[in-house]
Amino acid sequence: MKIKNICCIGAGYVGGPTMSVLAQKNPDIKITVVDINQDRINSWNDENLNDLPIYEPGLKEIVNEARDRNLFFHTDVEKAIDEADMIFISVNTPTKTYGKGKGMAADLKYVELCARQIAKVAKSDKIVVEKSTLPVRTAQAIKNILDNTGSGVKFQILSNPEFLAEGTAIQDLLHPDRVLIGGEESPEGKEAIDALVEIYATWIPKEKILTTNVWSSELSKLVANAFLAQRVSSINAISELCEVTGADVNEVSRAIGMDSRIGPKFLKSSVGFGGSCFQKDILNLVYIAKTYGLHEVADYWEQVIIMNDHQKRRFADNIVSTLYNTVSGKKITFLGWAFKKDTNDTRESAAIYVADALMNEQAEITVYDPKVSEERIYEDLDYLGTRSPEENRKLLKVVKEPYEACNESHAIAILTEWDEFKEYDWQKIYDSVIKPAFIFDGRKLLNPKEIKEIGFEYYAIGS
Ligand SMILES: NC(=O)c1ccc[n+]([C@@H]2O[C@H](COP(=O)([O-])OP(=O)(O)OC[C@H]3O[C@@H](n4cnc5c(N)ncnc54)[C@H](O)[C@@H]3O)[C@@H](O)[C@H]2O)c1
Repeated sequence: MKIKNICCIGAGYVGGPTMSVLAQKNPDIKITVVDINQDRINSWNDENLNDLPIYEPGLKEIVNEARDRNLFFHTDVEKAIDEADMIFISVNTPTKTYGKGKGMAADLKYVELCARQIAKVAKSDKIVVEKSTLPVRTAQAIKNILDNTGSGVKFQILSNPEFLAEGTAIQDLLHPDRVLIGGEESPEGKEAIDALVEIYATWIPKEKILTTNVWSSELSKLVANAFLAQRVSSINAISELCEVTGADVNEVSRAIGMDSRIGPKFLKSSVGFGGSCFQKDILNLVYIAKTYGLHEVADYWEQVIIMNDHQKRRFADNIVSTLYNTVSGKKITFLGWAFKKDTNDTRESAAIYVADALMNEQAEITVYDPKVSEERIYEDLDYLGTRSPEENRKLLKVVKEPYEACNESHAIAILTEWDEFKEYDWQKIYDSVIKPAFIFDGRKLLNPKEIKEIGFEYYAIGS
């Protein structure tokens, strides 16, 4: 079966970049990305490619090539569903904030809405692809909804989880370690899997395209994120031990990472992992384990989250105790708000929680981030609901210039590993801050020797 027309529901961090690369590599397939968020769609269609809603290195060049050729962004979800042979569901699946499974289970209301809309609109057979990260066995629920339309339309459900990392999304999409496609073990299921394999095979070697049953594919995505986050929490646990024993966590990471059984990646100690996926997906895994009565399994994975929360909290506590046990009324400069470099995504960023803890101590925070808007930063804080929006705006200011952000500061905290922070004139910054001059490096980004020689009191995680 040759696919000619694809619809992707959800123009977010996954739907936008993924479909842009799919369109670039398959110029003969028409790809329409739809979203209910009109502003987001307007930004995807913006003439000025610097105003795309998502910042990812390399994305604007690909959008520029494919947009209005075979890649389209709009809000007419029903029309796009009707015309498509294959429909990707790339909507958000956040942690539930209400009812059963609150704070743990994935909220599948957006996915269910998509399934119902597909069921309502479809007049011809469709392949529906789960691109969103979903709990194992969700495909069954989608299938039940689709198969009960009474319209006679046949649906095949595939699971095709996305493994891209924000900040390197385009490179990850162009050169993935693997593509995973789960489908039904029937002739129709096999045909649907083959149709999706052909789309990826236009640029990815076939041996990197794995096909499995649907449940293995759904579960593998949650497990991949759990294993990655587990490595971060493991090295972060060791960072605390390093601080009290005189070992240096960078040296430990290097020593263990050279063991080929362990490997060097994801062994960088930090103020804690953030992002929209790790925490949500592990909580989801924990919830699934609990619902099957597997309490030891659930407790084991929950510890990854507990360690991560501890790491953020102790970073904030260290700032307070080092600044003579009070930060009340003191200006503390945050360099970075995004959850990692090269993205404007701030979901679950460690910066939010460190700021919140320091604001509870009445610190006055000034934030500089090269890509995150002021509006986004206030939204993040308001969402926590710790204090009123007015108080958040009173205690935290956002500035667009790093030297101004640092001027007359009692302490500088590095929350995101943006490369540009390494290039700053740190002597100039030292001259402008209140002495003693403190830097709390949550990313082990700066050169400790150089920074200390300038005169800073320098604290880095894990040493
Ligand atoms: N962000 C990542 O790095 C990443 C990586 C791999 C997988 N994932 C998974 O991919 C999924 C999407 O994540 P994201 O970061 O792109 O989310 P996102 O919030 O950036 O984008 C989701 C989009 O879906 C739209 N949407 C919701 N319901 C809709 C509906 N009924 N019709 C049309 N549009 C609708 C929203 O308006 C939003 O723009 C999640 O399940 C996530 O876990 C994310």
